[in-house]
Amino acid sequence: MAVREIYRRKPPVAALLVILVCIASLLLIFSFLQSSGPAVSPRPEDRAELPGSSKWEDPGEVRSCNYSEGTWVRDSNPSLVRYGNSCKEIFKGWNCISAGKSNAREITSWRWQPFGCNLPPLEPSRFLNRYRNSKIGTISQFFLLPATLSIHHFLDFFSQISFSLSSVSSAGFVGDSLNRNMFVSLVCMLRRSASGEVKKLRPAGADRGFNFVDYNLTVAYHRTNLLVRYTRWSASANGGALESLGYKQGYRVDVDVPDQSWAEAPNFHDILIFNTGHWWWAPSKFDPIESPMLFFEGGKPILPVLSPEDGLDVALKHMIAYVERVGRHAIKFFRTQSPRHFEGGDWNEGGSCGRTEPLSPQQVEEFFSVEKNGTNVETRVVNEHLFRALEGSGFRVLDVTHMSEFRADGHPAAAGGKRHDDCMHWCLPGVTDSWNDLLALALDFL
Ligand SMILES: *[C@@H]1O[C@H](CO)[C@@H](O)[C@H](O)[C@H]1NC(C)=O
Ligand SMILES: *[C@@H]1O[C@H](CO)[C@@H](O)[C@H](O)[C@H]1NC(C)=O
Ligand SMILES: *[C@@H]1O[C@H](CO)[C@@H](O)[C@H](O)[C@H]1NC(C)=O
Repeated sequence: MAVREIYRRKPPVAALLVILVCIASLLLIFSFLQSSGPAVSPRPEDRAELPGSSKWEDPGEVRSCNYSEGTWVRDSNPSLVRYGNSCKEIFKGWNCISAGKSNAREITSWRWQPFGCNLPPLEPSRFLNRYRNSKIGTISQFFLLPATLSIHHFLDFFSQISFSLSSVSSAGFVGDSLNRNMFVSLVCMLRRSASGEVKKLRPAGADRGFNFVDYNLTVAYHRTNLLVRYTRWSASANGGALESLGYKQGYRVDVDVPDQSWAEAPNFHDILIFNTGHWWWAPSKFDPIESPMLFFEGGKPILPVLSPEDGLDVALKHMIAYVERVGRHAIKFFRTQSPRHFEGGDWNEGGSCGRTEPLSPQQVEEFFSVEKNGTNVETRVVNEHLFRALEGSGFRVLDVTHMSEFRADGHPAAAGGKRHDDCMHWCLPGVTDSWNDLLALALDFL
């Protein structure tokens, strides 16, 4: 309506355009000053924390390097300590230093060394400044300015600019407690370097999250075990397909319905990091007899009934398509499976993880080879499902599995404060800090 009126009264259009061009120019200059101006200098303690950056810069080779292949080397450089056990966001059961785990401080004395390249440590102040006040990638709109502009184009274009300058940049972790573990690691790293206030914020259904006010950057965690929605199910007195197969109770798993906790996340966040896997191999909750997973699609039971492994495939297919549709603008990562390290039995069979050094490559194969079908075999099996589902999608794979397979020393074990050893989550600070190094590097490569 307003636009049509502007069209009718010719002379003011020219005047308006001149004003808009002036404002746009100012915004352009302003944004360049922001993006190319000197980064806020880190506090002295952070400067000490960063290794000489030239050590890590080696263009050419880095893109072709496989960051999953390498070895953990001992490195006494104190820069490897990214944050202390006083970071408030560390869940009690993962705070191995406070809990007095004997090797807790040694966990961060190992550095992942890929063969043929380096994995630089995430630089918190650089990370914060890079994502300050801008939607990633939107700035390139300036150079796509059409030579001849209609007023419509111009107004569209103008709204994009102002959007890019005022919108909150945000990253969302979506997944199970292992993704929360990675989220906490990132928050603790950034907190240590951030100037200004860090406010609690739980956007778009998030379980927890923070806004780094000075940078307009939000980092949030959306809790979801299977990605898809599931609820208790019990047989109806009126009968039905599952009832006639003899099912009395279980869980209804809707493979085509995203969990409420994150359904809005793809639309909200600029960067998304997904995971799922552990709960699909959790017979204590989804007991095949007592409480089986019963898969539904389009509101109806899938028949014949699917095994959890097959259910995972269908759920991944639907959820990947959903995220691609709703989060078209977002940078999408899928993190691969985090390995567990139970020895001498599974978690509920007295299994433990008392090692104080990373495994050797031979030990890694003994633990995780699919052929050996050991206690922790699901690690690589999950990845086979993920890789198949992600092929041809717009997701980038954040492959943390192999590097983490070595780190049998990095779990809370008895320090987790549970009745059994925790050989699944990771001590913080610890191994997931390196996952975030990989994330920061992947973002740099975009
Ligand atoms: C990188 O290394 C990992 C671990 O050995 C392997 O699974 C993966 O296939 C490799 N990726 C490429 C692109 O070669
Ligand atoms: C930060 O984001 C909010 C919400 O989009 C916006 O109102 C505000 O202007 C932004 N702050 C700065 C300094 O750009
Ligand atoms: C792997 O081991 C588990 C438990 O020991 C067993 O139930 C399962 O049948 C085995 N799978 C294969 C493919 O051998």
